[in-house]
Amino acid sequence: MSQRRPLIAGNWKMNKTLDESVAFAKELVEAVGSTPDVDVVIAPTTVTLHAVSQVIADSPIQLSAQNVHPQPSGAYTGEVSPAMLKAVGCTYAIVGHSERRQYFEESDAFIREKSDALRAEGVLPIVCIGESLEEREGGQTFSRVEAQLKAALEGLSAEEAKTLTIAYEPIWAIGTGKTATPAQAQEVHHFLRQQIATLVDQDTANSVRLLYGGSVKPSNVVALMQEDDIDGALVGGASLKVDSFRQLVHFQS
Ligand code: 13P
Repeated sequence: MSQRRPLIAGNWKMNKTLDESVAFAKELVEAVGSTPDVDVVIAPTTVTLHAVSQVIADSPIQLSAQNVHPQPSGAYTGEVSPAMLKAVGCTYAIVGHSERRQYFEESDAFIREKSDALRAEGVLPIVCIGESLEEREGGQTFSRVEAQLKAALEGLSAEEAKTLTIAYEPIWAIGTGKTATPAQAQEVHHFLRQQIATLVDQDTANSVRLLYGGSVKPSNVVALMQEDDIDGALVGGASLKVDSFRQLVHFQS
């Protein structure tokens, strides 16, 4: 287990209507309790952020968006700006999720713009990176994540880089039930931390949290979290049920 405070984040993706989100958030407030041993973040859909924000206001649960547009305002139909997310209470915003890279063809450069725009508003970016099955099988895992990480970090000061959380989500492990083994995840996380030391500095590498995502569930979270460079989890499916999210948040007890 690392020296960094663990962070367990639930990415609800395109699930739960307004009523369902509010009811679920109320259950989570109870389930998480007032003094969890970890930082707890939930990322509901954009249209429910405001309502969920009010439900979790007096709890330790923090709010994240699932996406953002880098422009501050203007003719970008269907999009939402960093300031808008900030105004509804988002502490974090996920950028560069593989589903957005795949289905919406988001590039490393566009994701970097989003992350810079969030930082300018004081919203903390959770930048997702990860290789496809094809890339893993072709021996390109490290070069792929290195390029994505470099695009996220290059040119940032140490202070700026420390606002980032990096989520390593191998695409082949997302929603497939096929988790990377703790050793596979640790190998990549260790590599990423070394890269952060090279791209920024060692102190920043020691402080940036690296989350693992991809079929994390109560039965595998403890083993993953025992690895030195795994500082938390970005959870999809298992974050949608109170019982499993409770167990994930309380994995230490
Ligand atoms: P699953 O936990 O459902 O595999 O999803 C992971 C993920 O994409 C979180 O962002």
